[in-house]
Amino acid sequence: MSRRPIQNEDRQAIADFIEKHWRSKKVMSQGKAYYPHEQEGFIEWRDGQIAGLLTMAYQDEALEVLTLNSMLEGERIGSSLMLMAIEDARKRNINRIWLTTTNDNIKALAFYQKLGFRMTAVNLGVVDEARKAKPEIPTVGFEGIAVRDEVVFELPIKAYLDPESLA
Ligand SMILES: CC(C)(COP(=O)(O)OP(=O)(O)OC[C@H]1O[C@@H](n2cnc3c(N)ncnc32)[C@H](O)[C@@H]1OP(=O)(O)O)[C@@H](O)C(=O)NCCC(=O)NCCS
Repeated sequence: MSRRPIQNEDRQAIADFIEKHWRSKKVMSQGKAYYPHEQEGFIEWRDGQIAGLLTMAYQDEALEVLTLNSMLEGERIGSSLMLMAIEDARKRNINRIWLTTTNDNIKALAFYQKLGFRMTAVNLGVVDEARKAKPEIPTVGFEGIAVRDEVVFELPIKAYLDPESLA
């Protein structure tokens, strides 16, 4: 098992992985297109396969998590990769980490809240707009729910590392 920052030698495998799991090498966030295999992030390899992948982008005073996948759910791969991203941001004095997911992604809605993220916005119809730039985005997602809206999650890093600062 190897869990570490993404290196250049991983990039082709990441491009293939993203295409397989996100239907395209391109992902959309708030109307902007990203190619996750070109970005920084963290990866976990097990037996020659990608077991977990987090890709991210630093912007202004924040870190956006672009994609997160765990292939062995419930083994803490997702949360371990997220903790590595949080630690990376902390080292760079970045105090805000954010990400978007879609309204149908019940698993992600539960997962991020368990990690301490808060829902800071629901952008109605943004996924319908993004579908115009990326037609591969499905119209129906998990549990047969129509995929329409973008849910924004944020984690104030200082509060996460020092819960007493919330008091
Ligand atoms: C969301 C995802 C990354 C979670 O990864 P994971 O490796 O299974 O998560 P972990 O094992 O680290 O779980 C961390 C916590 O979240 C909880 N959790 C994970 N999935 C959950 C679910 N479906 N329902 C409720 N809680 C869940 C775990 O129970 C654990 O809680 P605990 O700390 O109380 O034990 C994974 O399900 C995934 O890859 N989904 C498909 C891709 C995706 O939708 N990515 C997010 C898009 S933005």
